[in-house]
Amino acid sequence: MISRQVEVSLGERSYPIYVGSDMVSSFAATCDHHGLPKHVALVTDSTVSKLYLKPLEKNLRHFGYQTMAIVFPPGEQQKSLSRANTIFSAMLKSGLGRKSAVIALGGGVIGDLAGFVAATYKRGVPLVQVPTTLLSQVDSSIGGKTAVNHPLGKNMIGAFYQPKFVWADIECLKTLPLREIVCGLGEIIKYGIISDAELFSYLEKNLDQILNLKPESVLHVQATCSAIKAGLVSQDERESGVRVILNFGHTVGHALEAAGKYKVLKHGEAVLLGMMAESYIARELAMIDRDVYAKIVNLIRRVPLKVHVKVLRSKKILEAMGRDKKSVGGKRRFVLPTRIGHVKVVEVQDQQVIRGSLDMVTNRER
Ligand SMILES: NC(=O)c1ccc[n+]([C@@H]2O[C@H](COP(=O)([O-])OP(=O)(O)OC[C@H]3O[C@@H](n4cnc5c(N)ncnc54)[C@H](O)[C@@H]3O)[C@@H](O)[C@H]2O)c1
Ligand SMILES: [Zn+2]
Repeated sequence: MISRQVEVSLGERSYPIYVGSDMVSSFAATCDHHGLPKHVALVTDSTVSKLYLKPLEKNLRHFGYQTMAIVFPPGEQQKSLSRANTIFSAMLKSGLGRKSAVIALGGGVIGDLAGFVAATYKRGVPLVQVPTTLLSQVDSSIGGKTAVNHPLGKNMIGAFYQPKFVWADIECLKTLPLREIVCGLGEIIKYGIISDAELFSYLEKNLDQILNLKPESVLHVQATCSAIKAGLVSQDERESGVRVILNFGHTVGHALEAAGKYKVLKHGEAVLLGMMAESYIARELAMIDRDVYAKIVNLIRRVPLKVHVKVLRSKKILEAMGRDKKSVGGKRRFVLPTRIGHVKVVEVQDQQVIRGSLDMVTNRER
């Protein structure tokens, strides 16, 4: 049942995000409603395919869709040009023309990769995002950023390409390992800090409900976060302005991920630590007082993050920060909180403060 609908407003590229539970039986009818071509490539990974592919295929076929499943192993390393190429080959061999569509069924890896394939296959075919992780439901499936990684950097090859709709069924979350719920919480807490003090206090009160996937809490948080992201994307599709605030926690977060060669930390985990580090920087620069800092850090500390960050060296993290595609002319640009629910873009010169923030997160005892 669809219980919430959030609109991304981008003129003729506008689209809805449907949020609800047990939604599979109305999927094909929604595809019809959005005029999706009847030939679809369902791109997914082997974990998700075992759980959710069959019911979706059955529903689509029942409504006259011809489906072709393209399944490969899970993992960030799949987000590559060579994997995109094997998907192109499979689609070409089966004769999918411009009147076909791509359905991305899975987490952010699938969404980014299948989205990139849809953006470029025969110069672009319609895309539907069916996110199945908490992180992809609240964040990566919304906003049209698609990409694959390059050996020289993450998300280096890609396109802005909006889906026809996003289909976020919270039922899928029940099979997620706790670690993936934790990752989703990274982005969820971020939304509270960057733009919604009410969401932040809701999380303070209901963190356990979300960790235990209580449907009401999850639906509330999903809809709230989707609306925040949809609002930012609607104002600034290509991240030349306000959308940049979504990068709170990500300047340090991306560098932490890279310093661990993407093996130590998952994206959402790195964002949790990145938000702690960047809040520390904001405190040191007197942008927030100690109470606000303590509120942020206390909430993040309640998330059951089980990672070994002591292996990461501040020097390596700083090097990675310098390579980030978002660093401007060598200066380190951060999105930093000024209070709960508000952030500001700041260029930080003080290396000692940055280093201090990295030492703080990498030496942290849990
Ligand atoms: N495009 C964007 O705006 C954007 C934003 C944030 C993150 N990202 C990207 O998203 C990726 C991370 O996404 P993610 O955290 O969803 O990871 P993921 O796609 O790797 O999924 C995590 C794991 O969960 C499994 N899984 C997925 N759904 C499941 C389910 N319902 N039940 C059981 N297991 C399930 C997957 O097989 C995988 O092993 C990164 O590549 C990141 O760069 C993109
Ligand atoms: Zn992120």
